[in-house]
Amino acid sequence: CPLAKGHCSKVKRKVVNPDIQKENAKVVDSFDVEDIGEKAVFCRCWRSKKFPYCDGAHGAHNKETGDNVGPICILRKNK
Ligand code: FES
Repeated sequence: CPLAKGHCSKVKRKVVNPDIQKENAKVVDSFDVEDIGEKAVFCRCWRSKKFPYCDGAHGAHNKETGDNVGPICILRKNK
């Protein structure tokens, strides 16, 4: 942890993923890069109803919690 010494031992950890595929031990999504069109936007807040894609739910999450998470955008370069 880059924060103050002992910081992490004082912070109560919570799960990152509240709802998605909780029946699985691990959530893993794989994509063939050739199947991604011009743009793909993937969720990193774990609140999207279209997970693994972003549906904009990060906005409400950030407003509610003060967090600052957002998606990762994969853009295909024009040749
Ligand atoms: Fe999760 Fe946008 S909905 S990052």
